[in-house]
Amino acid sequence: MQKVKVAIIGAGSISEVHLNAYVKNPLAELVAICDLNEDRAKEKASKYGIPRTETDYRVLLADPEIEAISICTWNNTHAEISIAAVQAGKHVLCEKPLCQTMEQAYAVQDAVKASGQVLQVGFVRRFGTNVQILNKFIEAGDLGEIYYAKASILRRLGNPGGWFSDKKRSGGGPLIDIGVHIIDICWYLMGRPKVKSVSGNTYTKLGNRSNIQNLSFYKAADYDAEKNDVEDLANALIRFENGASLFVDVSFALHSKKDETSVKIFGDKGGAEVEPELNIISEKHNTILNMSPQVNALTFDFEQGFYNEIEHFLLACRGEVQTISPVEDGVEMMKILTAIYESAEKGSEIQF
Ligand SMILES: NC(=O)c1ccc[n+]([C@@H]2O[C@H](COP(=O)([O-])OP(=O)(O)OC[C@H]3O[C@@H](n4cnc5c(N)ncnc54)[C@H](O)[C@@H]3O)[C@@H](O)[C@H]2O)c1
Repeated sequence: MQKVKVAIIGAGSISEVHLNAYVKNPLAELVAICDLNEDRAKEKASKYGIPRTETDYRVLLADPEIEAISICTWNNTHAEISIAAVQAGKHVLCEKPLCQTMEQAYAVQDAVKASGQVLQVGFVRRFGTNVQILNKFIEAGDLGEIYYAKASILRRLGNPGGWFSDKKRSGGGPLIDIGVHIIDICWYLMGRPKVKSVSGNTYTKLGNRSNIQNLSFYKAADYDAEKNDVEDLANALIRFENGASLFVDVSFALHSKKDETSVKIFGDKGGAEVEPELNIISEKHNTILNMSPQVNALTFDFEQGFYNEIEHFLLACRGEVQTISPVEDGVEMMKILTAIYESAEKGSEIQF
């Protein structure tokens, strides 16, 4: 198969993981990298042997040689760059979240449909080995009808600062940043049911806890403790048309004993824990069984997850597969996320 000529837009932290996956993949050729910060783009270009750098993504998109792009920029630019890219005839892998508002989500979807290009949303957890293994059990009917899921990512001290805590550029705090991953993974494993109603709460009680000493946490490159207008904690109950429900809570700051990540789904024939470790729960001969798959990685394997996601994207660019993470799923996820924020603001349930 002919190599796909790829450019990266946004040369910050996550671009590194995209770059590593493209470099390892024989189906990809990295031809350009773009960032508002020229030095950052140049530094990545020299590290990965990329021949061209740009600071204006529009100049990059005008190059007919480029077939596909990875969007690794701030959330407020995802819709604008996605639309411009598909209109310029490029395939797009857009980091999560798809965008910030429903208006943007529908505009991206319309542009993708009109262009016939591939747009894959970066729901990378779908490509984790633990999820792919579990999906085989679900597709074989081993869990039966999945009617409940529960997911948490609770960080006691984990507001990355910089653009992440600037609502204008991020669209929100832990809900849109990390909540999107776990809501998506439950929704995907539940068979992508239509959302019926959402009831959510957000809290801004603790701020970014930048006063805490002697405990390190991930900080954005442009960390600024003064700037923070996003929620510390969000929770929600999401009901689906098929009667299933999902309970979720996520935080950047919380008086919690330790950080925790947990994703669980429950069906009428079996259940499963996806995080922190894959476990499949069943019943046989009147005995409950907790089954622990004997595999290399029971938790989300970051590098492999991104490798799988990018391999799938490249195959979709070549028409070998239909992406399992299409723009429509990005739109559905935005529906849930924006409804949680709206419900929290109004103090009442949002019905669809
Ligand atoms: N899938 C995951 O697990 C995962 C993890 C982290 C981040 N992300 C997503 O990746 C995206 C980037 O996050 P990050 O952690 O790399 O942030 P970052 O701040 O480290 O990097 C973002 C880069 O984008 C550049 N940029 C912003 N607007 C631009 C524009 N219009 N044109 C060119 N460059 C532009 C910035 O200068 C910066 O270098 C976000 O959407 C985030 O949600 C996904």
